[in-house]
Amino acid sequence: MNDLEYFKGKTYIITGGSSGIGKASSLLLAEKGATVISIGRTKSHLESTALLHKNIKTIQHDFSESGNIEHLVDKIRQFSCCIDGFVHCAGVIYTEPFETFRMHELRKMELVNVESGFELLQKILTFMKEGSAVFVSSIDAFFGAVNSPSSGYALSKAAVIGLVRALASELGDKKIRVNAVVPGLIKTQMTDDFFSEAFAEERQKFLKRVPLRRAGTAEEVAKLIVFLLSDSASYITGDTIFIDGGYHVR
Ligand SMILES: NC(=O)c1ccc[n+]([C@@H]2O[C@H](COP(=O)([O-])OP(=O)(O)OC[C@H]3O[C@@H](n4cnc5c(N)ncnc54)[C@H](OP(=O)(O)O)[C@@H]3O)[C@@H](O)[C@H]2O)c1
Repeated sequence: MNDLEYFKGKTYIITGGSSGIGKASSLLLAEKGATVISIGRTKSHLESTALLHKNIKTIQHDFSESGNIEHLVDKIRQFSCCIDGFVHCAGVIYTEPFETFRMHELRKMELVNVESGFELLQKILTFMKEGSAVFVSSIDAFFGAVNSPSSGYALSKAAVIGLVRALASELGDKKIRVNAVVPGLIKTQMTDDFFSEAFAEERQKFLKRVPLRRAGTAEEVAKLIVFLLSDSASYITGDTIFIDGGYHVR
């Protein structure tokens, strides 16, 4: 079955769907005929995402405010009674040396990067009969501080790896596959600063370690995410797939 036949009539939830990797994934899925419910925090970002394709529906929600997930689930239900897949792409990073790491920022990363994906998938499971879930980790989970020190970010992204392995094991009986993607340096809003002139030297140093000698694009990561959601990945679960230009082999 080709992708167009597979995705037609299916509905996917993408957190962090209003920017970068999540936005590119929303568009790619929509172009393949799926309905996409893109969740983001910033109204203007959601508006520009919705304009990309008629199949993209948007919901504004702030995952750093815990305790209001039921409200989000009600809004999702207004769009669709059945969900075929879930992508947890929402993410935030705070950088600070360990000694002075601010606990409220650690908590925020835990909430946005991990717990919101955990809780939302749990809540939508009753209307997700079978399908695929993808969580977005980071090379920082494996290699520590890649650009600036952030033990807190590494903690949240390593938690994602443990989570997908446990969920793959638990949800296999329900025919739900769960995988993680592990991006390296990708040019998005999150890495804007690192692509500025001020970071030219650090950037060159970083790219020297990347066998492909360049940063990735949001569209390249989107292709991997959509592959994992598709029937082509029907026997892949519990996996952690690097998309980092080869950074992890050096
Ligand atoms: N770029 C990289 O080099 C890189 C590398 C490894 C992993 N990642 C991971 O990839 C994922 C996507 O990041 P990106 O690079 O595409 O960055 P991005 O363009 O900044 O996108 C981040 C997304 O998360 C949403 N978000 C942030 N805080 C939120 C909150 N409190 N509530 C709801 N949504 C929130 C943003 O919403 P709004 O835009 O609407 O505010 C946006 O849609 C993240 O999990 C990130 O950690 C990125």
